Amino acid sequence: MAIARPLEPKLDTATASYQNFIGAFRKLWSGPIYRELRNQAEALPDQSSDNYASFEAHLARLPLHQLFGWLEYNLQQMKYLGAYGIIPMVEGQRAALEKALMQPVSDGMLRLATDIRLPDYYKETDFHHHPGGLRENPLAGIVYRASAGASGGVVGRAGLHRLFASEVTADRTFARVLDIGCGFGRSTLAFIRTGAETEVVGIDLSGPCLRLAALLAMDLPEGGRSSYIQADGADVPQPDESFDLVTSTMLLHELPADATRAMTAEAFRLLAPGGEVAHLDFLPPEDNFLRALYFGHSRRNAEPHMRDLAAMDLRGDFEAAGFTDFTVTPFDENGTAGSDGWRLPWVIIRARKPE
Ligand SMILES: C[S@@+](CC[C@H](N)C(=O)[O-])C[C@H]1O[C@@H](n2cnc3c(N)ncnc32)[C@H](O)[C@@H]1O
Repeated sequence: MAIARPLEPKLDTATASYQNFIGAFRKLWSGPIYRELRNQAEALPDQSSDNYASFEAHLARLPLHQLFGWLEYNLQQMKYLGAYGIIPMVEGQRAALEKALMQPVSDGMLRLATDIRLPDYYKETDFHHHPGGLRENPLAGIVYRASAGASGGVVGRAGLHRLFASEVTADRTFARVLDIGCGFGRSTLAFIRTGAETEVVGIDLSGPCLRLAALLAMDLPEGGRSSYIQADGADVPQPDESFDLVTSTMLLHELPADATRAMTAEAFRLLAPGGEVAHLDFLPPEDNFLRALYFGHSRRNAEPHMRDLAAMDLRGDFEAAGFTDFTVTPFDENGTAGSDGWRLPWVIIRARKPE
């Protein structure tokens, strides 16, 4: 079914140049500024991983590290809130965008739960400094999409989800896929395209994101093989053994450890024997400097539970839930791993439910 536009804000010249300025500054921050900081960090004492706490204290005293952190925090704030930030841009177009979002969705494609109980961690944090998070504002999905670069914003790499989906399906096509924390559906659509018969259910706590995901999918010929349900990944309203793959992208690092464990147990229930889980996320590297930037990102980008994920015994937790064949492998998002700039330490976490 064709849908009427616009599902994204119009970008005027002033906003485009302001957002381009932030994008260009971020490149400076993640490239030359990062590399100079790394040079200075190499000269610090306590490089051994046994001395991480004292290395981190030395690093925190470097003026360049303070600038690096200041830029990371403030560029993110400015992207949303500055005079030409994403929030004023979207708010200025509220009436047209809300009208577009209220278009009818094809039967069976969207199931919202207005009485959903949101977990405390989800209510307590405005992840990524997105004001109000993805919880209630009907435009939250549109803001998130603009921010993630899907509509000309400043972050997010096109192709990342496609690359992840093709790696996960390199040896096997999955017919029934559950995408937890699907957001506005980038990962969901990437998995639909991995098989002509593949059907994907995307679930998320965010009603505004799911509505946008369903409308965007409706516009595509293959979109009818996806559906969107508002639910907690720890309590999914689907029968036992109804999926061959349970997946997520950029979800685990937003969860406290008990939520990750609950979701892992739920994934085990939902998977058919021989089914698999595959999560795309970030885990801290061994190197003290990169580790400090990982934990710094957690503080500066409003992602407090990255620390929880880093501290978990993931293998132990997956095995306790019944999974086997647990692996963690580095993921090179679009060839940027070798680019010598700052990047998140992407990994794919996989495990299998025994036959
Ligand atoms: C960083 S976003 C990633 C979205 C999407 N996977 C992507 O890569 O574009 C994390 C998503 O997880 C959702 N989320 C967080 N906790 C959840 C939970 N317990 N159950 C389902 N979704 C959750 C958030 O609402 C958000 O849409």
